[in-house]
Amino acid sequence: MSRFLSKSVQRLRPSGIRRYFDIAATMEDVVTLGIGEPNFVTPKHIVDAGIQSLETGNTGYTSNAGIYELRAAIATQIYNRYNLTYSPDDEVLVTVGVSEALFLAMKAILDPGDEVLVVEPCFVANAAAIEMAGGVPVMVQTSPDNDFQVTGSELETHITDRTKAILMSYPNNPTGAVLTIEHMQQVADVAEKHDLVVISDEIYERLVYGIEHINFATLPNMRERTIVLSGMSKSYAMTGWRIGYATAPAPLIEAMKKIHQYLIMSAPTVGQVAALEAIEHGEDDVEYMRQNYDRRRQLIVDGFNRLGLTCFEPRGAFYAFPSVEITGMDDETFCERLLQEERLALIPGSAFGESGRGFIRASYATSEDNIREALVRLERFMINNGFYIPEDEQLATA
Ligand SMILES: Cc1ncc(COP(=O)(O)O)c(C=O)c1O
Repeated sequence: MSRFLSKSVQRLRPSGIRRYFDIAATMEDVVTLGIGEPNFVTPKHIVDAGIQSLETGNTGYTSNAGIYELRAAIATQIYNRYNLTYSPDDEVLVTVGVSEALFLAMKAILDPGDEVLVVEPCFVANAAAIEMAGGVPVMVQTSPDNDFQVTGSELETHITDRTKAILMSYPNNPTGAVLTIEHMQQVADVAEKHDLVVISDEIYERLVYGIEHINFATLPNMRERTIVLSGMSKSYAMTGWRIGYATAPAPLIEAMKKIHQYLIMSAPTVGQVAALEAIEHGEDDVEYMRQNYDRRRQLIVDGFNRLGLTCFEPRGAFYAFPSVEITGMDDETFCERLLQEERLALIPGSAFGESGRGFIRASYATSEDNIREALVRLERFMINNGFYIPEDEQLATA
């Protein structure tokens, strides 16, 4: 049947995440830290707003760009948080999750063969979105040696006369890294010097721990060349409602809207109504969930470090990204054996790009009980394979 399929689609690689879920789905009693989605259900008042909207017959399309009140609420929230002004009329676009917004951004700016510098490790859809839009992803590696920060000099080494844009996402999936203002400024300098668009996926903007999130468009001269992507999925536990949004100067939003109107028409109406309720009355929910994630973050990071799986301190999102170097295994073998021997599902870091090789991604968007059980299984795995000796046994053999 492959003769029916386009070469470009055949070239797309399946997500490295799916394979582990497929294996895990055939097994019983699997504990998973694999899923990058909140374990909370959407707060009740948000669900109620969605139900009420359906029950009152609000079941049609909305305007292409999204319900005006929602666009206005998004613009107000961004103004209140970052002192950045976007017009709800033509600088905000409501999309089907950040996933759609990401594709629209690429499709809007790329001609065939244009290159996009993609800071990795990163969300599995990034390279695919660029390829589907006819562009060429050029991966730019980061490393734990500098806390997974992208540097200006690393970006510079990948610039060619086809480079059109930089795509990055901080707080980062899978590392949990947050970009410092100094490194943001380096990205801004490169973007300005080479006249690049910056696509800043800030979907985890509300999930930061002990630091403030900085919207990339607030950097000097960056608003005019930046498309910021964000949405409801992670902050408000609303992955299934499928609402994201893009903010950018009007010509960029106009181009994205053109594609969006032919592709999607409008984002789900019920999701948009629920998103409006979330933005207007969901602050306490965001803070409640954030504090929960923060406690779990400490639990899991301490757990990994105690077992010798060195874990850089994530300051955002809901992922820990420890190294498996101590085991001598590569990340894929480690995850496969852990799944087979202990029925614990984690994701190999290499699924997120070459610089993730040797690391594993653990999502702590799951219950504390689940995390504790995962750490028990992990400890047993490490002991059984001779990678870790518990402290009491160390004393006994001393
Ligand atoms: C960095 C990043 N961007 C975008 C998405 C997709 O989000 P949405 O549910 O808004 O499509 C994810 C989901 O895991 C993500 O991690």
